Amino acid sequence: MQPFTFHAPTRITFGADTASSAGEFVKELGGTRTLIVTDANLMKAGLLDKILSSFKDDGHFEPVIFSDVPADSDVPCVKQAAQLAIESRCDSLLAVGGGSVIDTAKVVNICLTYGGDLLDYQGLNNLPSRLHPLLCIPTTAGTGSEVSLVAMIKDHAEGKKLLFGSRLLAPDSAILDPALLLSLPPRLTAGTGLDALTHCLEALAAVSTSSSLTDSLSIEAMKMIFANLERATTDGANLEARSNMLVASTMAGLAFTNAGVGIVHAMAHATGGRYGTHHGITNAVFLPYGLDFNRMAIAPKYAYAARQLGITNSTDDAKGADELIRVVVSLIERCGLPSCLKDLGVPEFSEVDLEELAEQAITDPAIMFNPREASAEDIINIYKRAY
Ligand SMILES: NC(=O)c1ccc[n+]([C@@H]2O[C@H](COP(=O)([O-])OP(=O)(O)OC[C@H]3O[C@@H](n4cnc5c(N)ncnc54)[C@H](O)[C@@H]3O)[C@@H](O)[C@H]2O)c1
Ligand SMILES: [Fe+2]
Repeated sequence: MQPFTFHAPTRITFGADTASSAGEFVKELGGTRTLIVTDANLMKAGLLDKILSSFKDDGHFEPVIFSDVPADSDVPCVKQAAQLAIESRCDSLLAVGGGSVIDTAKVVNICLTYGGDLLDYQGLNNLPSRLHPLLCIPTTAGTGSEVSLVAMIKDHAEGKKLLFGSRLLAPDSAILDPALLLSLPPRLTAGTGLDALTHCLEALAAVSTSSSLTDSLSIEAMKMIFANLERATTDGANLEARSNMLVASTMAGLAFTNAGVGIVHAMAHATGGRYGTHHGITNAVFLPYGLDFNRMAIAPKYAYAARQLGITNSTDDAKGADELIRVVVSLIERCGLPSCLKDLGVPEFSEVDLEELAEQAITDPAIMFNPREASAEDIINIYKRAY
């Protein structure tokens, strides 16, 4: 067995309506004045109402609210929220939202804790000391950011996403309240669910860094996703399907944050950074191509997963891998997600676009965990086929 380290420092609490205890959770973490990071849609939809009431108990300062996080948050948004946190003397953070909100809160915490320019802390393992307490309440089931050690923030000037990665970035506590996901529209439900599925499949494929711990989380989460994503997409009010997707997404988050992702994420990051496409939906477009590309390197692992998932009982690895790819493609179709970049609104590529995208993808940190080395030519080839 190869050596490994597994981080899971976040306390995870699951249950319908658990979000209404958010104030108590922050108090337990030692927070007195909290910056709540969220977005305008969620405020308007009333998702914050019970959470805000939970801060009304005596002993709590009124929380400070920043609700201007855009989808795919960016550097100016982080700076604005950080300024508010610093001016308000906040000592703790609560993120309520999707991956964009949670990643914003993580990087705001960097600014609040250390001061200075956030760009000095980008990259891997550049954080000097513990951060302020952070509680996360995800309202999408996909990114796993509520337990992950990374955050992605868009830098418009560079046309790419900046990565912040450190074990110190893991949130202290996560509340998984499936009732908050009932309002998530079908396309986002499916797209975020495909992000979680991609986390499972890429963590599984990251053979040099995966372990029995990450493999078992990936496979169990995949079982839950195959059994519940279509239902959560077509019947958004189904609390059981939402619950399964939410827990599966957190499990997939623990798997990928320990094992890594791969070529699909590298290509989705390059595409999202340039064209603003949704992270999970972009992963869904690249996933069949990424699985096909890696198939020759890790067919036995795919086949093992296919057998564990009950998709096949064939002992032929090539057949098992084919079956796994087939059910993934079928799930994407059944959830009504686009199968090509053109349908995502990506404009036709010039040769220069393709070269720049390939350069970004092969230098993206995600690709270092991919089981098969990809050249710029391989990446360009996938871009052309996926268009
Ligand atoms: N840090 C990590 O580990 C990690 C992993 C994967 C992705 N990401 C990042 O996460 C971001 C994507 O996050 P996302 O897919 O969760 O989407 P998102 O946070 O960008 O949200 C998308 C939209 O969904 C809306 N929304 C969210 N929850 C809702 C709800 N319950 N009801 C109604 N509307 C709701 C939001 O208002 C927003 O308009 C990307 O920036 C990506 O890079 C981070
Ligand atoms: Fe992802």
